[in-house]
Amino acid sequence: MKKIIIAPSILSADFAALKHDLKMIEESGADWVHIDVMDGHFVPNITVGPVVVKSLRKETELFFDVHLMITNPEKYWRKFKESGADLITFHSEISAEKKKLIEDIISSGIKVGISIKPKTFVSEIEALLPYLNLVLVMTVEPGFGGQSFMEDMAAKIKVLRKIIDENNYDCLIEVDGGINSQTASICIGAGADVLVSGSYIFAAENPVGAVKSFFI
Ligand code: DX5
Ligand code: ZN
Repeated sequence: MKKIIIAPSILSADFAALKHDLKMIEESGADWVHIDVMDGHFVPNITVGPVVVKSLRKETELFFDVHLMITNPEKYWRKFKESGADLITFHSEISAEKKKLIEDIISSGIKVGISIKPKTFVSEIEALLPYLNLVLVMTVEPGFGGQSFMEDMAAKIKVLRKIIDENNYDCLIEVDGGINSQTASICIGAGADVLVSGSYIFAAENPVGAVKSFFI
C-alpha cells in the first residue's frame, strides 16, 4: 500500500497556541504542516505572512507545505522560502509566467506545487506536470476552512492520477478542503497522495485521534 501523507492545516488551529499545535501534529504521526497564506485579493480572506512561518520554523522539523492563495506569488515566494518553507504551492489562476516561477522555486532548493481551483481544468496545467513536485486539487473554493467537500472533484483527481502514472511523472496529488475520514477515502480511492485537513482535526475533541483516523 502506498504511503498517504497527512498535512494538518493550521488555518483552523488556535493562532495563540500554534507552538502547542505543532507538538500535537508531531505526536499524531503526521509528517507535514499545511500553512495557508491568503492576501485578501486572490481570495476574500487574509491570514499569515513569512514572519509567522519563520517563528514556526524554530519550533519544529516538520515539513512546511506552504499554500499561497495570493495574486502575486512571484513577488513573495522567496520570503517564504527564506522563512523555512519546504514546498511552495501557488495557484494556476495567477497571471505570472508559471514555468519560470516553477523553475525559480526549484532552483532555490525547495519543492514546488501548483494548485487548481474547482473550476480550473487539468488540461490547463497538464504541460507543467513534468516539472512539478505536487499538484494541489482544491476540493472547495479556496478562502475559508470548514466548507463541504465537493464530490465531483474526485473525477479530476482520477484524470490527474492517470496522466501522472502513464507518464511516470514524479508528482504528488494533494487534496484540500472538506477532508475528513470519509471524504479522505474518496480521495485516496481516486488517487490522492497528500490529504490536507483543517477543521476536522482542530475542531475534534481529540485532534491526535482525528489525525490517526486517516491512517486506519
Ligand atoms: C482553504 C484552505 C484549506 C483549509 C482547509 O482555502 O486552503 O487548507 O484550511 O480547511 P478544511 O479542512 O476545514 O476544509
Ligand atoms: Zn490550503
